[in-house]
Amino acid sequence: MEEPVHQAALTVDPAFRIGDVDPRLYGSFVEHLGRCVYDGIYEPGHPAADADGFRRDVADLVRELGVPVLRYPGGNFVSGYNWEDGIGPRDQRPRRLDLAWRSIETNEVGVDEFAAWARRVGSEPMMAVNLGTRGVEAACNLLEYTNHPSGTHWSDLRRRNGAADPYDIKLWCLGNEMDGPWQTGFSTAREYGRLAAQTAQAMRRVDPSIELVACGSSGSGMPTFGTWEATVLAETYDLVDYVSVHSYYEEHAGDRASFLASAVDLDRFIESVVATADHVRAVGRHTKRINLSVDEWNVWYQSRFAGEENLDWARAPRLIEDTYSVVDAVVVGDLLISLLRHADRVKIACLAQLVNVIAPIRTEPGGAVWRQPTYHPFALTSRYGRGTVLRVEPTGPVHETGRHGAVPTLSATAVLDEEAGELTLFAVNRDQDRPLRLDADLRACPGLAVGEHLAICDEEPEATNSADEPDRVTPRRLPDPTVADGRLEVLLPPLSWSVIRLRRAG
Ligand code: AHR
Repeated sequence: MEEPVHQAALTVDPAFRIGDVDPRLYGSFVEHLGRCVYDGIYEPGHPAADADGFRRDVADLVRELGVPVLRYPGGNFVSGYNWEDGIGPRDQRPRRLDLAWRSIETNEVGVDEFAAWARRVGSEPMMAVNLGTRGVEAACNLLEYTNHPSGTHWSDLRRRNGAADPYDIKLWCLGNEMDGPWQTGFSTAREYGRLAAQTAQAMRRVDPSIELVACGSSGSGMPTFGTWEATVLAETYDLVDYVSVHSYYEEHAGDRASFLASAVDLDRFIESVVATADHVRAVGRHTKRINLSVDEWNVWYQSRFAGEENLDWARAPRLIEDTYSVVDAVVVGDLLISLLRHADRVKIACLAQLVNVIAPIRTEPGGAVWRQPTYHPFALTSRYGRGTVLRVEPTGPVHETGRHGAVPTLSATAVLDEEAGELTLFAVNRDQDRPLRLDADLRACPGLAVGEHLAICDEEPEATNSADEPDRVTPRRLPDPTVADGRLEVLLPPLSWSVIRLRRAG
């Protein structure tokens, strides 16, 4: 017997704006970890490698993905990294122990190669400085190297290394996950807050135009979550622009319903950090607001990772290369909806990571490159989720989940691109069995006609892509929904992510 259809509704009114989408919401992350850099973006012996050793076929998919910002070089890696090891003649660069991932770092790729590559793929680098084993001086030297025009030790060294013009890197992370006991040089909130403030103050003297991100918690489950943000921001408030949020999700055995509602957890996490930042603002009588940089987020099956302590000092080992399914793609699409819903305060976000390591793009050394199912909702949201996010106030069924309590079955948001005359709805049906009929009231947006409805959905939710079957999971074109008398009616398949594009008719 066919499952009965759920009903849900929302209203689109250009007057009810959440905020403009900062394109940096569609960032990603390249860490010296496993095969993200080596045998990922960079593989000099590959038939598709360019003169600098970077794979053209990978670069093409990165461009198509649409990632205006790329966080680099870590992650946990950065907390033991000497950036100077990665500059100058390649054959003279040292091989080092990477303490974070028990790997060998050859330093074949460093800041010069990465900054040049990032620009080639249409991105800006977002650099992290090492506040684990190093501090103020190394951070200032790196900034002088990348951003100072010329006439000083570090800027002239950059020029001698082949980059006449400064890279002019705007975004800087003050360390990485310094609250985590796994982090090299981990510290208390007060210790980190002090060091972050000192580093920020000095870096701003080198280049006052930069924007700085202070480390928030490594996850909302950390024992210090909340007090960490409050303490760090009390130390750094006037010196930084953003506080970071890191959040990873996975399906726990037998509880797909909770996994499908991961975006509810991200909503709560974001709202808690906003509340904490605004509390510090009130207590300190500050006027400016601290915004959020969700600079690590994704689906990550952490429970399948044996732990770095079991690794064996290899170059570019296969680490945390999760293979993603349709279910994972739907969750990634929903996490993007959550980020959009908070566009007023979330200005930067980085899908962690870009290639091979918990990534939308996978490669084989000497072989193929392909898109994981999660690639598609990201690419489509980055392409069409530009403009102003509107408050749509969905109503409809709710269902119980083990981890998040009662959650709405429909997750949705709308983005209006006034210039292009386009309205895009993003929607997830979290029900695994029943379709959901969505009724959107568009009377406040006269003249819109349906463009197209694309969805990630499948009879086999575990379906995935591989080198042999790279396009097993791709967006499906569903029948064009109808707009009549200012109402759009659309059917969302069970367990699906949808993008519905509407254009001004005529
Ligand atoms: O993205 C993988 C790792 O997750 C990063 O290195 C670290 O910052 C986080 O714990």
